[in-house]
Amino acid sequence: MILSTFLPTLVVLLRVSCVNTHQVPLAESTESKSTPPKPAADFHPTYDGPTWEKKYGSQYDLSYTGPLSFSHLPYERCLDNASLSYDIAILGLPFDTAVTYRSGARFGPFAIRSGSRRQHSQRGYTLSWADNPYTHGERILDCGDVPVNPFDNALAVDQMEVAYSTLLARPATRSNTEPVTRLLAKDGVEHPRIISLGGDHTIVLPILRSLHRVYGPISVIHFDAHLDTWATYPGQTSEQARVTHGTFFYLAKEEGLLAQNNIHAGIRCKMTGIADMVNDETVGFQAITADDLDDIGSGEIINKIKKRIGDSPVYLSLDIDVIGMKSVFVNKFLSFPLIDPGLAPATGTPEPGGWTTRELKRIIRGLAGLNFVGADIVEVAPAYDHADITGIAAADLVHDFLSLFLAKSPPQSRHARVDDEL
Ligand SMILES: *[C@@H]1O[C@H](CO)[C@@H](O)[C@H](O)[C@H]1NC(C)=O
Repeated sequence: MILSTFLPTLVVLLRVSCVNTHQVPLAESTESKSTPPKPAADFHPTYDGPTWEKKYGSQYDLSYTGPLSFSHLPYERCLDNASLSYDIAILGLPFDTAVTYRSGARFGPFAIRSGSRRQHSQRGYTLSWADNPYTHGERILDCGDVPVNPFDNALAVDQMEVAYSTLLARPATRSNTEPVTRLLAKDGVEHPRIISLGGDHTIVLPILRSLHRVYGPISVIHFDAHLDTWATYPGQTSEQARVTHGTFFYLAKEEGLLAQNNIHAGIRCKMTGIADMVNDETVGFQAITADDLDDIGSGEIINKIKKRIGDSPVYLSLDIDVIGMKSVFVNKFLSFPLIDPGLAPATGTPEPGGWTTRELKRIIRGLAGLNFVGADIVEVAPAYDHADITGIAAADLVHDFLSLFLAKSPPQSRHARVDDEL
């Protein structure tokens, strides 16, 4: 009874006091703007100890601080500055408007850079490579992202081609030293190599157009759960609608961009039938399936890829969905496979039963010494990630790509190295 009588009064009082306290500082701040307080004549700083710089040195970045670039590399807007040169450029291509299922790979470049924050040139050595890719004297830059149009795919594909061609045409920093791409390029000039961060897989079409102009027909090593050599999807009634993340290799073949000795690794997707494999061969691919790893092992997979590619100029395209999701069985009586969020869940078209990150890394190491002219990692869509697992895996694979480009041959196994030393 008493409470119900006093409550309305209390509310009114509280409201009035809120209005008052809110108004007072506002009025004061207006006044203080017109007449700023002057420091007293005997003003002394409240801190007269050593400055940060004197006591601790530079404002260096920790793994989790500072501006975001790939592995804390210098970040440059390379498209804006024609006098920038590099040997290897990291380039974001945030395009994701040609996917058949989950979109979101436009955030891939951000997720991969974020996943790379614990990587640094000064801690770039790994036992598995016996190498630090940052010690070869190559200039490696993060060239930023291409501002790809998200509304008009024809425009976006052209923007990607123009940006890639612009950066590919720059003279490599080490152009007068040991030749790498000069021996492969039609113009006999040393071109830099670009590692692209996708983006959905469609980005490979404009990339192949650019590379073809410099090197002629390109051989492709394609790590993926899917073929991406399909001619069409149902309902594609316009020319532009043919350009998708599952058809770009078909279109590249149509345009004469591809060599005939291409190879997939990690295939395990569902198909319309065996006719898809017949078409795949026509496009110029051989396929290594996910199960081949159990049947023939990583050594034989590496041999097959190397034999297929030979000394052709080769482009490496890695769809993060090549990495697997574990199938987990509840128990022996319940036979449904449950899908565990696995090793790289943040992707647009996930397929259970792929390779582990460790298995994939081992196969990639075995390919060192081939004539790589570029590489990408695509289809990282971080909105579907858990604990950044996919971004971290992708960033680690890009670190492998750097050693892959720079090492002259695959590293010996550590056991062989230890035996040599004894
Ligand atoms: C462009 O890059 C060069 C070489 O690193 C640098 O000296 C110059 O300041 C840059 N120009 C601009 C406008 O950023």
